[in-house]
Amino acid sequence: TDFPIITLDGGAATGKSSTARGVSQQLRFLHADTGSHYRALTFLLLRKGISPEESDELTEALEEMKLSAEVDGTLASLIADGKKLSPEDLRSLEVNRNVSSFAALPPVRNRLLRYQRWHRELALEKGFLGLVIEGRDIGSVVFPEAPFRFFLEADESTRIQRRSEEGQEDSVAARDKADSGRKTAPLHCPEGAIRINTGNYTLEEVISQICQKVQNDS
Ligand code: C5P
Repeated sequence: TDFPIITLDGGAATGKSSTARGVSQQLRFLHADTGSHYRALTFLLLRKGISPEESDELTEALEEMKLSAEVDGTLASLIADGKKLSPEDLRSLEVNRNVSSFAALPPVRNRLLRYQRWHRELALEKGFLGLVIEGRDIGSVVFPEAPFRFFLEADESTRIQRRSEEGQEDSVAARDKADSGRKTAPLHCPEGAIRINTGNYTLEEVISQICQKVQNDS
């Protein structure tokens, strides 16, 4: 029960993935990026011609999908029906445009909730010392009991700069608005989580702030 879990929530381009990667490598924790789970399902559902609304086709497609994971270094990636998707597929314009709509649907969230919670067992089984898992509802819904919960923030200019450095066409503000406004598991700072404004620190400082907190309390 005292297998340590770190949750990182926050809006788009607040630095969650880079932070989680650094923390996972320093602490030898497994890293799960739940945004990539929603992206993978969005890509696969769009390819099946399914639109982002509740339907029998959606329910059926979700039931048929076999989800597993592949671990490379500290990162776990979603494998759907035996296939891993490329970063280009996951970060395509089509996916950026539709992911928040699919992510708002309860059947989609329920399917991924079980899968995401299973990463704790995966981390244990693979010999990692803990789990660091990032997303929008991790500290509030997926692992509300996690001892180390953080909420990352950054101002608009920092976030736009980050995305343009990554060369991504992505309307960050529109996604955040949709993600914060939805009924099921909206994006918000979980009660009791530690807020970090990542614009005020270097990446290394954010990583060591989190690692120190975990090491001091373990
Ligand atoms: O983190 P990333 O920007 O890749 O997430 C893509 C989208 O997936 C978010 O905009 C959100 O709609 C959805 N998401 C979610 N819950 C999570 C993680 C991501 O709804 N825990």
